[in-house]
Amino acid sequence: MDPQTLTELLDVAVLDRLDHIDDLPGDELARSSALRKEGYSAEVTAALLTQARLRKEAAAKLGPFADDMLFTRDGLAQATRLPVAAHHARRLLGEASEDDTIRIADLGCGIGADSIAFSGMGAQVSAVDADEVTAALAAFNLRHLPDAEVEHSRAEDVDLDGFDALWFDPARRTVGKADRRGSTARITDPEAFSPSLSWVVDKALKAKAAGVKLGPALDHGLVPAEAEAQWVSHNGEVVEVCLYFGAARQRPGRGALVMGERTLLVHEDDLPDEDEAGIGELGSYLLEPDGAIVRAGLVAALCAPLQARRVHPSIAYLTTDVEPTGPASAGVTAYEVVDVLPAKIASLRKELVSRGIGSVVVKKRGADIVPDQVRRQLKLPKGDKATLVFTRLGERHVVLLTRPVG
Ligand SMILES: C[S@@+](CC[C@H](N)C(=O)[O-])C[C@H]1O[C@@H](n2cnc3c(N)ncnc32)[C@H](O)[C@@H]1O
Repeated sequence: MDPQTLTELLDVAVLDRLDHIDDLPGDELARSSALRKEGYSAEVTAALLTQARLRKEAAAKLGPFADDMLFTRDGLAQATRLPVAAHHARRLLGEASEDDTIRIADLGCGIGADSIAFSGMGAQVSAVDADEVTAALAAFNLRHLPDAEVEHSRAEDVDLDGFDALWFDPARRTVGKADRRGSTARITDPEAFSPSLSWVVDKALKAKAAGVKLGPALDHGLVPAEAEAQWVSHNGEVVEVCLYFGAARQRPGRGALVMGERTLLVHEDDLPDEDEAGIGELGSYLLEPDGAIVRAGLVAALCAPLQARRVHPSIAYLTTDVEPTGPASAGVTAYEVVDVLPAKIASLRKELVSRGIGSVVVKKRGADIVPDQVRRQLKLPKGDKATLVFTRLGERHVVLLTRPVG
């Protein structure tokens, strides 16, 4: 969106039209011609329809707040989900009581999702974004929060003295080089993040408290010794790793937080000694650990609480003889092992057909296959559903016929 269209969109009457856009017919073309007949320019019409679509998409991340916000497609893609933003806020606010005034700087605020949580939970927020339109959208999105202000500025130009906590969510996607579908590319070099990771870590180390949100594929070697690194999944999707410093750090080292219907915290202190992280025979259940636990390198920490063992030293599946229960079961998806089948397609097909199986979900770890290709090659006739897991038991390549538990 260009600044001129944004200015027109921010007109009270235009915003009111956006709030009531569902009065119009559902079909996009009909909506567009109705808005043009009402006198809106082609640019404002397009902006209204885009905002209506983005508000609907944003509900998954931001709940009912989305209906009162404005977005860019990139800004929404990079925005933190509200429950995760609330977790960031709890970390930065720490033990502060309602009477304390905690000043947080959000240094690259995007459309403002993290700032909404900081401010909503009582902090005084100064947010900046280097992109003019994005900063204006954040200002709009935070307009009801009295203790939040937004400026169009680079993080590097902000005077960081006097803040109780700093929040960084550096841009990790290329700017202005979108492909045909409007997606930008992921940047892998941390020095090319904006601001760069070394600048961010330098400021975070000097702050009273700080949090840095990064992509979950972060190389463990880049985690500073002084930080707590926490990989987070929300409703089964790995969403980030956060580095916490100073008062925001609860436990140095690597951890994983599983958020969803149930919550689970796993930490590297829970890892067994090298020789206790047993590899063993396949049991009655195969366990697929949550992605945050896998990314944090903490799969072995689930062995003791789930009475489980690993199937292979470098494969992130566990196996056990008892159905997982208790708090640690929130960290795995369990499959009952029905049988071990041959990995060759022709023999596998024969086995599946003889069991009346006609549609398969294919999972893999440690196996060089492409699930979609396998499904096509199997050419199964109509029949029951099953989950196939291509993996290795020790050095043996196998296919496990399984049934999801629960
Ligand atoms: C990942 S997004 C932030 C998302 C935000 N936490 C949220 O939940 O909505 C990163 C933002 O940083 C901004 N940015 C990039 N370089 C910056 C810099 N040097 N200073 C300030 N903001 C910057 C980008 O314009 C982008 O909006």
